Amino acid sequence: MAAGSAKVSLTGIKPTGEPHLGNYIGAIRPALKLAQNYEAVYFIADYHALTTIRDPELLRHYTRSVAASWIASGLDPDQVVFYRQSDVPEIFELTWIMACMTGKGLMNRAHAYKAARDRNQEAGKEDLDTGINMGLYNYPVLMAVDILIMEADVVPVGRDQMQHVEIAADIAGSFNHVYGKSYKFKIPDAIIPDADTGHTLPGVDGRKMSKSYDNTIPLFCPEAQLKKLVKRIPTDSTPVEDPKDPDSSNVFQILEQFATSDVAANVRQRLQAGGMGWGDLKNQLFEVLNDQLSPLRDRYNALMEPDSELDGLLAAGAEKARKRVLPVLSQARKAIGMA
Ligand code: TRP
Repeated sequence: MAAGSAKVSLTGIKPTGEPHLGNYIGAIRPALKLAQNYEAVYFIADYHALTTIRDPELLRHYTRSVAASWIASGLDPDQVVFYRQSDVPEIFELTWIMACMTGKGLMNRAHAYKAARDRNQEAGKEDLDTGINMGLYNYPVLMAVDILIMEADVVPVGRDQMQHVEIAADIAGSFNHVYGKSYKFKIPDAIIPDADTGHTLPGVDGRKMSKSYDNTIPLFCPEAQLKKLVKRIPTDSTPVEDPKDPDSSNVFQILEQFATSDVAANVRQRLQAGGMGWGDLKNQLFEVLNDQLSPLRDRYNALMEPDSELDGLLAAGAEKARKRVLPVLSQARKAIGMA
């Protein structure tokens, strides 16, 4: 999409783990699809990850891994503004400005902070703020600025992040209320890709695939590991010859997301007819996944090499991002009386 002519879709990806199949279906694939119709601005939210990741090597690794995964999955850095949040210092300048527009009560009501306090309460802690850092508390302000500084129209996020986008709209509203005669931030809308498809992938224990359940299949794990993990997906004890309901099978649900519609329809029919065992289905799933992912995996592995082109791509992305934010920041500074 050419710059200037289209609406802006923006999302941030927190580098707190290696991307897995669930991230691909729930976030990467829908965001790349949106990039066909929107001007896409996608970034690695490494400062957001700092609220939880304290191991520098790990943060470095996850940051590269997430960036490499998106590019290997088809993100074209020439078409998408793709950068690392920490490479755009203007975000922090605006973060202070917007913190001064943000009611403390609004932050008290943010889900992530409330959940952390609830956990302290359950653990019987006297001070409910025990172990909660200001990064977690201010998280929604930084996220609001990520969105507002890029003048995003839509923000594709998971359901858990919707409140944060609403908070961003609130904070923009507060600024606009005071300074709107001079400068107005664009008010963003959250969009939930899941709502279109209704798809969340089951993990290797049958619950929703999620890093916090430790049940994921990494998107670019080696072939042998992929095979092993597919074998671990739970199935029931229906005998091979019996008909099976594809829609209540975890294995089929994953297959359906990755296979062509012809292959998925064929497997569906074989399951319903009886005679197809779970082992057979798992072999099919492995084949489908491996066929789709192995070319992407090669690209991922090449990007993950120490001196690959990845760092240059991110540096070029940061330059584009910084160019974009300068006029926004300078108008906001002018509006508040600092320029
Ligand atoms: N908070 C988001 C998450 O946990 C990541 C994020 C940071 C983000 N900044 C953003 C998402 C801006 C959308 C827009 O996944």
